[in-house]
Amino acid sequence: MEMSKLFLSFVICQVLFFFPVPMQGVRGNANLFRKYIGSESKNVTFYDVPINPGIQFHFVLAFAIDYDSSSSPSPTSGRFNVFWDSNNLSHSHISSIKNQHSNVKVTLSLGGDTVLENYCADFQPFSVDTWVSNAVSSPTSIIKEYNLDGIDID
Ligand SMILES: *[C@@H]1O[C@H](CO)[C@@H](O)[C@H](O)[C@H]1NC(C)=O
Ligand SMILES: *[C@@H]1O[C@H](CO)[C@@H](O)[C@H](O)[C@H]1NC(C)=O
Repeated sequence: MEMSKLFLSFVICQVLFFFPVPMQGVRGNANLFRKYIGSESKNVTFYDVPINPGIQFHFVLAFAIDYDSSSSPSPTSGRFNVFWDSNNLSHSHISSIKNQHSNVKVTLSLGGDTVLENYCADFQPFSVDTWVSNAVSSPTSIIKEYNLDGIDID
């Protein structure tokens, strides 16, 4: 039990420590702009954001969270669900913005601070093995469904 908790902390630390590295790497790169979009269903569309054609432009969909979408959300142990404003940032919006702008990529962010603005979105694995296995398969399905280009861990 203690060992698996320790292992889980290790895995989470690896994720937290490894993913910021590329982000820091691009800070010095003036040719890349990243924008989180879609959190808290605020009715924002891709077309509200001016896109400079001379840079790499990444929209980061915020967020997929491993909680269910009931009115008092419960953790789903690594089974990530779509919480970004998927009415205004749908599969067809994503393909049309990418078709119109060859410099645009759309990626997925896992995590965020809160679910439905009021509930803390901490990872709450039921077990290490199920969390890891679900946390591979469910974002993979979302990426395929929405034809996304990458993953960010928030
Ligand atoms: C969302 O945007 C549409 C179109 O701009 C507008 O008609 C609608 O009132 C907005 N809804 C909200 C909840 O802000
Ligand atoms: C966002 O989606 C809702 C629901 O489909 C729609 O009523 C609204 O007009 C959309 N907002 C914009 C800005 O297009």
